[in-house]
Amino acid sequence: MNYRKSLFAILALVVGSASAQQRIPEVEQLLQKMTIEEKIGQLNLLTPGGGVATGEVVSENVGTKIKSGQVGGLFGVTGPDRVRKAQEIAVKESRLGIPLLIGSDVIHGYKTTYPIPLGLSSSWDMGLVEQAAQMAAREATADGINWNFSPMVDIARDPRWGRISEGAGEDPYLGSKVAEAMVKGYQGDDLAAAHTMLACVKHFALYGAAEAGRDYHSVDMSRIKMFNQYMQPYKAAIDAGAASVMSSFNDVDGVPATGNKWLLTDVLRDQWGFKGFVVSDYTSLNEMIPHGLGDLQAVSALALKAGLDMDMVGEGFLTTLKKSLEEEKVTEEDITNACRRVLEAKYVSGLFDDPYKYLDSKRPEKDILTENNRALSRKLATRSFVLLKNHNNLLPLKKNGKIALVGPLADSRENMLGTWAPTGDFNLAVTILEGFNNVASGATIEHAKGANISDDVAFAKNVNSLGERILIDERSPETMLQEAVDLAKNSDVVVAVVGEATEMSGESSSRTDISIPESQKKLIRALVATGKPVALVLMSGRPLTIPEEFDMPVSILQVWHPGVEAGNAIADVVFGDYNPSGKLTATWPVNVGQIPVYHSAKVTGRPATESGEFQKFRSNYLDAPNAPLLPFGYGLSYTTFDYSNLKLNTREISQGEGITVKVTVANTGDYDGEEVVQLYLRDVVRSITPPKRQLKGFQKIMLKKGESKEVTITLSPDDLKFYNAQLEFVSEPGDFEIFVGTNSDAELSEKFTLK
Ligand code: NOJ
Repeated sequence: MNYRKSLFAILALVVGSASAQQRIPEVEQLLQKMTIEEKIGQLNLLTPGGGVATGEVVSENVGTKIKSGQVGGLFGVTGPDRVRKAQEIAVKESRLGIPLLIGSDVIHGYKTTYPIPLGLSSSWDMGLVEQAAQMAAREATADGINWNFSPMVDIARDPRWGRISEGAGEDPYLGSKVAEAMVKGYQGDDLAAAHTMLACVKHFALYGAAEAGRDYHSVDMSRIKMFNQYMQPYKAAIDAGAASVMSSFNDVDGVPATGNKWLLTDVLRDQWGFKGFVVSDYTSLNEMIPHGLGDLQAVSALALKAGLDMDMVGEGFLTTLKKSLEEEKVTEEDITNACRRVLEAKYVSGLFDDPYKYLDSKRPEKDILTENNRALSRKLATRSFVLLKNHNNLLPLKKNGKIALVGPLADSRENMLGTWAPTGDFNLAVTILEGFNNVASGATIEHAKGANISDDVAFAKNVNSLGERILIDERSPETMLQEAVDLAKNSDVVVAVVGEATEMSGESSSRTDISIPESQKKLIRALVATGKPVALVLMSGRPLTIPEEFDMPVSILQVWHPGVEAGNAIADVVFGDYNPSGKLTATWPVNVGQIPVYHSAKVTGRPATESGEFQKFRSNYLDAPNAPLLPFGYGLSYTTFDYSNLKLNTREISQGEGITVKVTVANTGDYDGEEVVQLYLRDVVRSITPPKRQLKGFQKIMLKKGESKEVTITLSPDDLKFYNAQLEFVSEPGDFEIFVGTNSDAELSEKFTLK
């Protein structure tokens, strides 16, 4: 039998619940031999510790459990030799010798860490996103991993939520493209190949819509909103062939996702045709107890019946399903179905063919942290940066003169990788001070810290739960500030690297105040007061509220957390070796009170005035504008682009027809550069209130200085559709408006009618 089939061919074979002949014979034969305990054992995913535990429980007696057939997979175990030890116990010492799935959180690179996902999405370059995921897969599989807990595709419209850093931002269209590219990158077209790994789409579903932006909080949302605004990226990942799905911590419609049959079976399997397996999040099965759904036995039975196949760490399945079977709360068929899905994934990975496929001890040296990989990481980082403002065209800087490089993140190795990089090593990261010296060796670069990331000891303690990221200096804030100001006065230009430490975003890192901490604000004010030209390099895992800084005479380059090549990549852009092209994938609010603020909001029956001026009895605020500080899709370049000549191929189309949009884009500035041409659609009249506009197409193009190009974007019939009140995916006759331009406020527009 040829095991090296494409995933799609195998999935066509598998068709979980369909007729028996379509099943994988090897898996069916194995199921015949298994006892009920062994089947339940396959549903158990453990971590022996060693990685970063994201809950309070770490598994015990893992070796003994593997031997007795009580473990289906492990995570937090890496390196061919360590993994081999575990795999050998499973293969040689358990009764049936079933190999283990080996999972890991490879979120933005394995050892060659690249920008946090929110940063990567800001590149709007799907080819690069796929390449990034491919590199991560090659490195992770070289270290024995065959299953990745990524991509995280949760739409996030609340930047207080720390995990906005782990996804692709607020937009379902862009989010779907990123999801698809990542699945393709991880899985390739042959899952049994030694350099590909199973993807796991997470967190199903709606995890990013946690109330008040507080992690793990409740989610309550209409189905119309879910299907029109939140579900697309999960579905796109599944359509791209993702082999597994992780259920989320939150509840949906009052039932925790981990035990939600409507989500895990009706939508995921029955409507979307998902054929892979579903794993819980870290103890999310057990967490259904405090959610209020019953004791461990009750919630385990509920989750199995709902469609959960694998239990991460909590051992609810392992310890209660047999009893539930005896008490007829679950059936043997329920257990067999879940077990089958886990075994099918192992089969698809090629593990039955060769359980040691991913365990070549020569590979780590050959495949991990290679020069090429680091070069790719550097390139990805440069593409993720977003130029927010360029006062007096200060940037790019010349590679000479005296540069004051100040700020608490300018020489901070521990904050370069970004959140959730458990497989990376920050000791390998290039600091910004090092990067500046590497790239601009002709300049005199001097450094002063200038401020702590935060002076707030209690806050720093919370942020530092997983390791010291905010280091409070022994010197007083005043002394540090004075040193930086003196240095600034003696320099030609000031670059201040400010913002968030890595663990100020990420899991369980929500903030109610998302501004730059006061210690650093003081530094920025003092630097600007020197009258020297100031560029801010702003680092964060989320959109920040920066109205004060944005009003100052400064340039601002947003760099997220760039990964292992941070310093080099930042220097590449600051000194003009690469012209920034990133665009925001989540709106930047003026203040926290505006949240949620996103480009595809509804206009209401009492829209605010066009000018933004307050008017009584309109949908506006007394104390702030409706408009955000920076809109979705926003980002400047060292050059300028001009849009003209927007044309549609027709002004009237029929159901089932698409439309072709052309626009001319010219590079009118002094640098070669890339631009993301964005297309937004407004459905003017329909049976449910439409969003103001929605992203429906984009293209990233390169234009030499003085060059212009005609760009074509085609809308398919599906691009005009939405989920109506009956949740049918339809397009309705009437007028549509198209907007094309450089961000979601694009003004160039045309109209057409759907008959
Ligand atoms: C909890 C996180 O929510 C999830 O994203 C991650 O994959 C698991 N922990 C495993 O580390």
